[in-house]
Amino acid sequence: GLTLNGNLQVAVGGEVHQIAGGEHPALTTNQGVPLSDNQNSLRANPNGPTLGEDFILREKITHFDHERIPERVVHARGTGVHGFFELTTSLKQYTTARILTEVGERTPVFTRFSTVAGGAGSVDTPRDVRGFAVKFYTKEGNWDLVGNNIPVFFIQDAIKFPDLIHAVKMEPDRGFPQSATAHDTFWDFISLTPESMHMVMWIMSDRTIPRSLRMIEGFGVHSFRLINDSGESTFVKFHWRPKLGLQSTIWDETVKISGADQDFHRRDMFDAITSGNFPEWEFAVQLFTQAEADTFPFDHLDPTKLIPEELVPLKVIGRMVLDRWPNNFFAETEQIAFCPSHLVPGIDFSNDPLLQGRLFSYHDTQLSRLGTPNFHQIPINAPKCPFSNQQRDGHMQMAQQAGRVAYDPSSLSGESPRETPTNGFHSAAITEPGGKGRIRAASFADHYSQARLFYISQTAYEQAHIASALVFELSKVEHVHVREAIVGHLRHIDEALAQRVAAGLGFNKIPDAPVAARPVQEMKPSPALQIIGKM
Ligand code: HEM
Repeated sequence: GLTLNGNLQVAVGGEVHQIAGGEHPALTTNQGVPLSDNQNSLRANPNGPTLGEDFILREKITHFDHERIPERVVHARGTGVHGFFELTTSLKQYTTARILTEVGERTPVFTRFSTVAGGAGSVDTPRDVRGFAVKFYTKEGNWDLVGNNIPVFFIQDAIKFPDLIHAVKMEPDRGFPQSATAHDTFWDFISLTPESMHMVMWIMSDRTIPRSLRMIEGFGVHSFRLINDSGESTFVKFHWRPKLGLQSTIWDETVKISGADQDFHRRDMFDAITSGNFPEWEFAVQLFTQAEADTFPFDHLDPTKLIPEELVPLKVIGRMVLDRWPNNFFAETEQIAFCPSHLVPGIDFSNDPLLQGRLFSYHDTQLSRLGTPNFHQIPINAPKCPFSNQQRDGHMQMAQQAGRVAYDPSSLSGESPRETPTNGFHSAAITEPGGKGRIRAASFADHYSQARLFYISQTAYEQAHIASALVFELSKVEHVHVREAIVGHLRHIDEALAQRVAAGLGFNKIPDAPVAARPVQEMKPSPALQIIGKM
């Protein structure tokens, strides 16, 4: 090694590393400058003031000053673990999603368990719902199943969620209780919200005082849809069932544990994972059609209702094993961003109005919690499959986009990412009840008539100006095929104009007029749209 300011430089795997001596890496500033003294700030003399010049002191304190980020607005207290999901039964008949069709395939997951009401530093064991959020890093992108340990919810519509949470969280004037349902505002809200009574039965049961996070069930709560390769959709409810069985404490134990060990559940999970005692859950689905749903004595889109297993039995299709504690709590457990709208091709939403509101709320809050639209680039959030699009820039941009094309469609670069019409994400077809389509009405298909109207309304010298402007601007375009394409469009507007521009650009032959760059799909109106049309 080389000697550098008392530190050693050694070559490791072709890279030069600074070492402070022995086996320790050198302590450096964020600019890589090795420190000679991390114990004393720079002073004018031993009894004098600290010098503003001390960039080492300033960097260290400034970074520390900014260590905290906002905690989650709900589910702030959580414990996360890495693991894998393995499919045991294919749902090929129902879905194209590879995560649900490739038997034996192991997909990495990160699962975060949480309480709902308490802050990030609150006790693990209040009487509370437990969040059960799983991020599947599938080959087709990330799928987040953001569920709870109770199969139903308090409210039927997302517009009531801020009220529910304001009622359960600490009261705004007194700042307590931190994480308890035993207070006026919570019960006041519940007393005025009859739809919550089913959930109230569940939260007053021992389910909300679990013995261990390894012993809770998980539920996707809402109905989702699976979409198969014929575009047919089947409704689905998702379930996690702990191999250790559902186990709870009793209230007396809970109260004692809360005092004795704030971190009871986190410590239990840490101990289990680090001693190789890996918790496992069965993954099960309830599958049903619209016709079956029509026979249920309740609306399956109402999230205060579950589907009794007598009506639709559970089908176990896979398992999840959690087997690796994160290296760093903040980088992984704290920075992970789950979102119910993270879906993969072959899975779709239902019209449950609670789910519909959740679809935008998570990303929205994470923009302030994580502070940048590029938080998907943080390793714990990034897909493990390749991903690319034309989004660019923004705070904390880590990806270096190559080339000049940051838009779509483009004819310039063979490397810019393109749509995948067959295997890309498709919503439930518009022919389904409640189906959707990325469609544009045929009445939007005429792009040229008014362009022609404008052109022919101009006087001869104005027309000449338009033609010369086109020739001048297009002559600056390097790519001949782009010039030709524009002249082709002009032919749909006015043949003489096209010829004039072609001649000005020195074309020997006038290019063909293109068909519309993107074929316009004929929209099949749904029955509801037809009714509106008749009014
Ligand atoms: C966080 C579940 C309803 C907004 C969470 C988390 C879970 C969860 C498990 C924690 C995620 C994590 O570990 O990081 C559920 C379930 C619901 C529900 C099962 C109903 C069935 C709602 C509704 C809204 C909402 C209706 C808003 C309209 C949020 C927000 C966060 C959150 C803003 C914080 C996300 C973050 O900061 O990363 N939810 N939630 N939730 N939930 Fe929900």
